[in-house]
Amino acid sequence: STLHVVTLLGSLRKGSYNAAIARALPALAPQGVRISALRSIAEFPHYDADVQATGFPPAVTAMAEAIRAADGVIIVTPEYNYSVPGVLKNALDWLSRLSPQPFAGKPVAIQTASPGMIGGARAQYHLRQSLVFLDAQVLNKPEVMVGQVAGKVSAETLELTDQATRDFIAGQLAAFATFARRWKA
Ligand code: FNR
Repeated sequence: STLHVVTLLGSLRKGSYNAAIARALPALAPQGVRISALRSIAEFPHYDADVQATGFPPAVTAMAEAIRAADGVIIVTPEYNYSVPGVLKNALDWLSRLSPQPFAGKPVAIQTASPGMIGGARAQYHLRQSLVFLDAQVLNKPEVMVGQVAGKVSAETLELTDQATRDFIAGQLAAFATFARRWKA
């Protein structure tokens, strides 16, 4: 049966390189895998337990529902100051307060991209740490860290044009499909 995977994007900016990576994924997925984008986390308010006490924001409950319904999640995000962007951490903090907790037992893959050399590697390990508390099933390898991404995305079309990167990402998607199917009923 078809594996349904959703992407969660950690950048809000229009020209985002990470968004370019995320947009490339449906075409790089193996047969039998459908990849679609979750809505932007831009609508999430700052996490506040007092706000939570008045009811979860609709953007949060809607995303949690989409994650619960998916067979896997691919988090595509920049690295900010050697860590996870605050907006993404904030989104995970909100989602983590729901019951049932949407990431519990959920297969997750991580991809990062940066104009820098090491492609956001340090953010990946901070993200993994939070995903331990969320009890997600995180794919270990292959790790996708796209360094020097500015030369790999078309400045005009914001498409991921670098073939070696496309091939490497396709390899992770194939590995993730095998991994995620293990948890699919
Ligand atoms: C950055 N950037 C960055 N890059 C990196 O490789 N390691 C880092 O620690 C940081 N830190 C950082 C902090 C802040 C606050 C900003 C705004 C940026 C650069 C970052 O990789 C670059 O802006 C990317 O283009 C962001 O990803 P998107 O928005 O293009 O997807």
